[in-house]
Amino acid sequence: FSTKDTLLTSVQSPIENSGNKVTVVGVGAVGMACAFSILTKGVSNDIALVDCVADKLQGEMLDLQHGSGFIENARIVASTDYAVTAGSRICIVTAGVRQREGESRLDLVQRNADIMKQIIPQLVKYSPNAILLIVSNPVDILTHIAWKISGLPKTRVIGSGTNLDSSRFRFLMSQKLGIAPTSCHGWIIGEHGDSSVAVWSGANVAGVRLQALNPSLGSKNDSEGWGELHKKVVDGAYEVIKLKGYTSWAIGLSVSALCKAILKNTRTVHAVSVLVEGFHDVKEEVFLSLPAVLGENGLTDVIIQPLEDSEKAKLQKSAQIMSEVLKGVKL
Ligand code: NAI
Ligand code: 2OP
Repeated sequence: FSTKDTLLTSVQSPIENSGNKVTVVGVGAVGMACAFSILTKGVSNDIALVDCVADKLQGEMLDLQHGSGFIENARIVASTDYAVTAGSRICIVTAGVRQREGESRLDLVQRNADIMKQIIPQLVKYSPNAILLIVSNPVDILTHIAWKISGLPKTRVIGSGTNLDSSRFRFLMSQKLGIAPTSCHGWIIGEHGDSSVAVWSGANVAGVRLQALNPSLGSKNDSEGWGELHKKVVDGAYEVIKLKGYTSWAIGLSVSALCKAILKNTRTVHAVSVLVEGFHDVKEEVFLSLPAVLGENGLTDVIIQPLEDSEKAKLQKSAQIMSEVLKGVKL
């Protein structure tokens, strides 16, 4: 008898399937921030990592596994073979190139579209019931491409979208008002990127619309400079990339919040990239962010905000930009 057999008298076999397995494809700065946040916030204890660079993948897996003593019953596996992802409830895609200083998200499109073609069929093969959560940029375009390649219903292919931009906005609101970001309600919708739309008409604290207090809120005539907040949201990623080379922690936290909504069926509302055709008179078949309800079967509802005409026009402009970019992508 081995030491293990002497120590343990088996009464029944432990359950192997956690029921909350999450795959992260791409173990770069973003993928690891997602994995770390999911594990440390107790969203899932069952993570599969995939990357095409075997040594880095092995190193990241070991580094996380060495922290298992501080996480309950963590199961962290990794392989360049997608078989390791089998049975995932969520597959997060963070693989691909990132912006260099001065590049826009849209500049990455063809390189990362080619990578989606390799990754998505493998994920669907091993986890046909999973929800795909796309993070790689340009996220709205790649979510559309992933949806097409996967053959999955539109309710199960979601882009991390402007959940992050909305967090940046709430942080800036909180700084201006001196109250917690979670008590500042402001939504950034549309493109995760340069044409995103700030919904000034809905920004509120405790149901008090800031525009009711300051009718110029967010406009050029606003002497309080609220419009600067949206400019800082749009410029925020460029600034971080200039300073540290990439963004990671905020997107990791944002993605882990989205995973929590799905795995725990919270039915909370998040700004995520969804098929927007038909909403707010958008005519194009494109993905953009709107406030959406998430649960264990993915997207269940979209919230149609009563946008002002100018906000709606900006959203429609975002849709036209996305449609033009999509036309240029070779699949
Ligand atoms: P990174 O360069 O640190 O990591 C990318 C990883 O993808 C690398 O480990 C690489 O080996 C892997 N990879 C490349 N091709 C692959 C393939 N065919 N199969 C499997 N793995 C592959 O980049 P980082 O900083 O992690 O960024 C990743 C992506 O996330 C970029 O497109 C970036 O723009 C995007 N991003 C999106 C955000 C969002 O809010 N949606 C926020 C921050 C970044
Ligand atoms: C971000 O907004 C670069 O999309 C990335 O952090």
